[in-house]
Amino acid sequence: MKPLYMKIKDREYEDNQELDKESIEWLKKQLGLKKEIGSLDITPMKEKTLLQYVPKESWFNSDRIKTIHGVSHALRVMMYSYILCKIYKIDRVEPFLVAASIHDIKRINDRKDINHGKRASEWFYKNNIMIKNDFSKEEIKEICLAVEGRDSKLKIDSILKSADALDRYRLPRRKWWLKKELTPFSIPNKIINFSKHFTIWTEEEILNGKDPLKAILDLAKKCNLITD
Ligand SMILES: [Fe+2]
Repeated sequence: MKPLYMKIKDREYEDNQELDKESIEWLKKQLGLKKEIGSLDITPMKEKTLLQYVPKESWFNSDRIKTIHGVSHALRVMMYSYILCKIYKIDRVEPFLVAASIHDIKRINDRKDINHGKRASEWFYKNNIMIKNDFSKEEIKEICLAVEGRDSKLKIDSILKSADALDRYRLPRRKWWLKKELTPFSIPNKIINFSKHFTIWTEEEILNGKDPLKAILDLAKKCNLITD
């Protein structure tokens, strides 16, 4: 089958786009990944905090879980949101984790899909009771605004946009990668470099058969970003 990076090169943008081993090899070469991921020296998150907000398969449209906007993307954006919260000294990370978890769950394709944020926001507004929920009304509103791509007082929108951008190294086209001048926050190079490795290495593990949550938890623990 034609690998995703070739389809993208030939401008064949399918509804559901999934990574494959050849595209990962292409990405590794283009990104010039090293053997070591480097340490970020950030207070680790408790595993149970992350687990409370992991997106459930049933939240996605059923054929979209393995796509480039599927569960592995959501989990990594949660991790990158956590890292950015710690860097910008935000203690209450839970609303940021939820926004990251749900931001792409209602996509119907991997192209622009301009209304996907609004659909996710409306879904969350109706269904937030299903999620471990100690959020205030204000926080629920802020999460909805951020997922829709609108400014939020808590800055969930800025962290979400930056975290989402850090996961762009999964996309097999150079011009779609993170552009420093377009992120709402200045992101240290160390974090950008970390995200290149974390993104590709977890995708590689998943393509080798590992469960996405396990792949992301295992590497996050190894990097001391998650603790029991
Ligand atoms: Fe996203």
